[in-house]
Amino acid sequence: MVVKRKGSKVFASLLAVSIAFGSVGFASADTTNGKSSYAHDQKVVARVDANRAIEHIRYLSEEIGTRPGGLDAEKRSADYIAKTLKSYGYDVEYQYFTVPDQYIANVAFADGTSWEMAAAQNGRLSNESVKGQVLYVDGGTNLIDFPASTAGKIVVMPRASTTADYRTQVDNAVKSGAKGVILQSLVGSRGNYGQTFNPSLTTKYDVPVFGAAFIQGEWLKEKAVKGPVEISLTAEHFSNLQSVNVIATKAPKTKTANTKEVILGAHHDSVVGAFGANDNASGVGLMLELARVYKGYNTDKELKFIAFGSEERGLLGSRYYVSQLTEEQKDNIEAVFVPDMVATNYEKAKNLYAMTPDGSTNIVTDSTLAAGARLGNSDILPGTFGSSDHVPFHQAGIPAALFIWMGIDSWDPLVYHIEKVYHTPQDTIADNISTERMQSALDIIGAGLFSTVRKDVPAHNK
Ligand code: BES
Ligand code: ZN
Repeated sequence: MVVKRKGSKVFASLLAVSIAFGSVGFASADTTNGKSSYAHDQKVVARVDANRAIEHIRYLSEEIGTRPGGLDAEKRSADYIAKTLKSYGYDVEYQYFTVPDQYIANVAFADGTSWEMAAAQNGRLSNESVKGQVLYVDGGTNLIDFPASTAGKIVVMPRASTTADYRTQVDNAVKSGAKGVILQSLVGSRGNYGQTFNPSLTTKYDVPVFGAAFIQGEWLKEKAVKGPVEISLTAEHFSNLQSVNVIATKAPKTKTANTKEVILGAHHDSVVGAFGANDNASGVGLMLELARVYKGYNTDKELKFIAFGSEERGLLGSRYYVSQLTEEQKDNIEAVFVPDMVATNYEKAKNLYAMTPDGSTNIVTDSTLAAGARLGNSDILPGTFGSSDHVPFHQAGIPAALFIWMGIDSWDPLVYHIEKVYHTPQDTIADNISTERMQSALDIIGAGLFSTVRKDVPAHNK
């Protein structure tokens, strides 16, 4: 259930809430136009605008595109975020850190379009393109799976489930004269479509060997059925890479030795080949929109907005950030809010979860659940999950939580639903973004975070 911003649906939603939940948590929901009438909540919810947040998603996922950690596109993403935060009046710093090499593949079509994939380190890595016609082979663990016409073609195969078997597929394709090999990813471990991957090979090959997202393999197959498809393969090894965190600070009204700090942090990178509209241009868009609205208000605490780099490569940006903090600085951080995937339109992802790695509650989960109750918005639920930038903070003993839309079946909490297009080239605004879900996340996280940093005005503490 998503509480609509305006119009009569608000009342229908509120009715649904009271039917579903009785008065628990809502008895005190004192609402105006379906939203809390508490002045401090109104300061946020009356101003935050999902469409502005989605405009940031558009820039990051469409204007820039894929943003793999350590590459140029991630730098452009950092520049966009820094420029936006500066335009709101914040002081902005870059924090660089080194990240492992990337092996990036490019598949170009005759019409000038191209796709990003991941390349095998042991395949051909060159800017000089290998051109050929696509041949889709369903199989490949036996040499006889390859027709005589394989010679000179670029073979596309659904990858076998084990590494040993897909190595055999590559070997057989090359022995059969393939000019290039593209392995199609399997369905992902989270029930999502598979993402791009760097094929791990023990033999060196002088042909390019790429790991395609499942959907890219499907698209190639569909195209090849219709007629001959010419593609052009290049690959590049990027080394000496640096990734970057962008840090904007909002000074408190008055700073003393006891002034606490609150962080809102979202990763801005994407996986290779994925436009990362929901994962996680959405979290960055939410962060930028809250930064815009908060700028006009005085706060008691120091507030930091951080865009983390290279989360998809192992939480590298947030780990680095935490590693650079002194014990004193760690003690000073009161709360870390981590929006990651906050606007999917996937139907089964029905709730916005405030997740901690061990299911414990803290100021981050409590403040947002309380905000939901005040707003009459029942979307927010507590949960247990790691896998994002809240983890390094949690491990350092700092209260932190991840915000993500998900569906968890009450009869089996181990089965959760996230969108199938997660980590794939289909994570786009058109296929995966909901304005209503973004608005609900802005309202809840915005009001919850504001309640932890705002200047305490006793008259408003009803
Ligand atoms: N946004 C995801 C985290 C996520 C996905 C949380 C699905 C819950 C459900 C994040 O960007 C991600 O993919 N994280 C990596 C972490 C890893 C690189 C340490 C992951 O989970 O694979
Ligand atoms: Zn993410």
